[in-house]
Amino acid sequence: MLEKYWYIACRAGELRRRPRAAEILGHRLVLFRNAHGRAVAIEDRCLHRGAPLSRGRVCDGQLHCPYHGWRYDGEGRLREVPALAAPPEGSAAVKHFPCAEQDGYVWVCLDANPAEPAPRRFARLDAPGWTSFHMRTRFNAPLAACLENFLDCPHATWVHRRWFRSPTGKPVQAVVRTREDGAEAEYFHEPREKSLVWWLLSPSRAEMRHTDRFIAPSTSKVDYAFSNRRHYTITSSCTPVRDDLTEVYTVISFRFHVLGLNLGPLVRLFFQPLSRRIIQQDVTMLDATQDNNASFAADAMTVTPADLLAPHILAWHRAIREGSEPPEAGREAHVELRL
Ligand code: FES
Ligand SMILES: [Fe+2]
Repeated sequence: MLEKYWYIACRAGELRRRPRAAEILGHRLVLFRNAHGRAVAIEDRCLHRGAPLSRGRVCDGQLHCPYHGWRYDGEGRLREVPALAAPPEGSAAVKHFPCAEQDGYVWVCLDANPAEPAPRRFARLDAPGWTSFHMRTRFNAPLAACLENFLDCPHATWVHRRWFRSPTGKPVQAVVRTREDGAEAEYFHEPREKSLVWWLLSPSRAEMRHTDRFIAPSTSKVDYAFSNRRHYTITSSCTPVRDDLTEVYTVISFRFHVLGLNLGPLVRLFFQPLSRRIIQQDVTMLDATQDNNASFAADAMTVTPADLLAPHILAWHRAIREGSEPPEAGREAHVELRL
């Protein structure tokens, strides 16, 4: 029942006068603003002949179908059939969905009773002294493959070599913990040499605390905290568009002060294009992997202890789909990686 969770449909600023199509878990929706300016979401199919309502237009907070002009309100109720003198009787309506505006995004839940009352907040977005930027990235890959990629350290020495992480062969201790809402991995004494990112963002010898968190069902949060109070948090909220297509909304928030001066806005000038370049490397790799798997009978899926969070992501998704209990919180495992 992945349908019971909140997913981002678009940036709030993208929803203005025109309706906007969105797709979540294979369901086609149309978003628009009602008479009070509130974002609403209804099924993107007219009751008359099935035309996509997202191609219509909004008048006074109601949506006109582009084909014969049938008019719908924000709850999906049919309010007017223009070719009839009298308004229609009865309660014809297209489905409407819970919709919320938060952190600059429009979120939709496909179930009338969401698993959580409101979408999760992005950590540290708009926090005083922090700088943030947003990225949207489309992956031709399933939700679990994206989450795993964002929370997987070993791939970085290959896919992002020199950009983010270069192989050193050093042992790195990791602890994996199960939590009430997912699982996390914490890394100790991680090497940072030969990395353009860390050369730019943390040139000092400050101690780093690195935690990767999976928040079920569709969020990853990567956190790097330094002893000199620099701090980077990368949160990706994934929208499963279809089984093999995921739209990822990433918020990168960071704290970069020098001698009490907030250099965040300056750092952002190179941090943002650098992040874009690195995420694009993941897009290319997941594209190739997905394309390759599609040519074989089943996905290649050999799990080793180095795949720290992948088994937890899969176990949570299975539990949500089957309506069974997710993995119990409070378990801990120690793994030694070589990075
Ligand atoms: S198909 Fe929508 S009004 Fe005819
Ligand atoms: Fe990556």
